[in-house]
Amino acid sequence: MPTLTVRPSGKTLEAITGTTLLEALLFAGEPIAHKCDGKAECGACHLFVQEGRKGLSKILPRENAKLDTIVGVGSKSRLACQALIGSEDVTVELLGHGSGL
Ligand code: FES
Repeated sequence: MPTLTVRPSGKTLEAITGTTLLEALLFAGEPIAHKCDGKAECGACHLFVQEGRKGLSKILPRENAKLDTIVGVGSKSRLACQALIGSEDVTVELLGHGSGL
């Protein structure tokens, strides 16, 4: 199973291939906002993928359209609710630490 490393907490967990980053982070008890419950509508679950981006599912038009509306988006940005974990290790950086839960 791939390892998911979370910053800034430094927590690591064994992730299940095929689950979303959001599901894995919530399971790990990380404070990530998810106002629309994973529909790519709120943008609250925006995070940066620091390592392992290529191991995640591709960005689909729905996610891309939402990312385009978020301030501070960069090349490492993903919506945690849309990114499926593959077979590679991933390191993510949470933003806004628990705001809007
Ligand atoms: S939970 Fe709303 S966009 Fe991901």
